[in-house]
Amino acid sequence: MALTADFGPRDIATQIERTGIKGRNLIFIDDYSQEELSNIFKTAEMLEPYYRNRIPLLEGKVLCTQFFQPSTRTRFSHETAMFRLGGNVITESNPLVSSSAAKGESLADALIVTSEYADVIVLRHPDDAVADEVAELAGKTVPIISGGYGNVTHPTQGLLDMYTAYRAFGGDFTKMTVMIATPDLSRARSGQSFGLGLARMGAKIIYAGTTGLETPDVIRDKLKAMNANFTEVNDLTIAQHEQMIADEGVDYIYLPGCSVKKGDPGRDEFLKKMAEFYFTLDGLEKIEKKTGKVVGITHSLPRNAGEFDFAIDESKHQLYFKSIGFSVALRMSLLANICGV
Ligand code: CP
Repeated sequence: MALTADFGPRDIATQIERTGIKGRNLIFIDDYSQEELSNIFKTAEMLEPYYRNRIPLLEGKVLCTQFFQPSTRTRFSHETAMFRLGGNVITESNPLVSSSAAKGESLADALIVTSEYADVIVLRHPDDAVADEVAELAGKTVPIISGGYGNVTHPTQGLLDMYTAYRAFGGDFTKMTVMIATPDLSRARSGQSFGLGLARMGAKIIYAGTTGLETPDVIRDKLKAMNANFTEVNDLTIAQHEQMIADEGVDYIYLPGCSVKKGDPGRDEFLKKMAEFYFTLDGLEKIEKKTGKVVGITHSLPRNAGEFDFAIDESKHQLYFKSIGFSVALRMSLLANICGV
């Protein structure tokens, strides 16, 4: 054991100064260092007592949420976080209908203009290319937090899943093995972000998917650049997935969700593949009997019937609803750290 240089009573303003991310965008999780991520989690722990309460760290600040895709969790949790921090919110949840995007205004112009009203923006958009567009706007806008861009990034969800793992498994990511499992890793943006964050913190990652629908190259390149400890397995049966979880000592199964919506072409085929990713309470209990380990399971939500066994809801393995309890504190940490206090 060694005495740490920063040992002393913790106060929130010093903690936020220590994190040192004031004014930064959040596009990909690996844009942030291991130390910065650890400090975001430490700040979140300090803010947890206030997630149903009020701590006026951002009095007078304004958050603008612009969501070009539907959302319940991401938009509401950021907005609640800003209210809990004493700030205010302006919101656009249907910009293609009720903002000047409907009149053809470019996204860049809208972000520059709304930066004159707000101190921080949370943006969700269906296009992968928005990640580059936002990066190119640096200096022309207030900090922009991605609420999900295309198929490649959903960093606040990834951070929430990491924070849940950090709280559930004792905080040492280097001792953690996580399986990210979905038939379609190519469109699993919350899985991409969780994977990058786990890699940054030194966890072991197993990507379980299907041939032809692997993790996109942009994410694979980032994993390689970090020397991430990751393996990829494709086309396993559910029995083989369960065997691998037991053999590899997986702590946490992550299901990034069904990416083919009702009515979309290919959904039936997707659901057929989904059967081999259908984790059950029975399966998790068998793994526990074999290994003595209670494997946690989470899903980014919203979920659809057929994705996994909902009997897990009432079990000790369930982390998907428990994580929602951390989502406001985590977003309070992000907003306070990015706006500064
Ligand atoms: N997990 C997630 O992004 O949920 P919403 O789409 O409801 O924000």
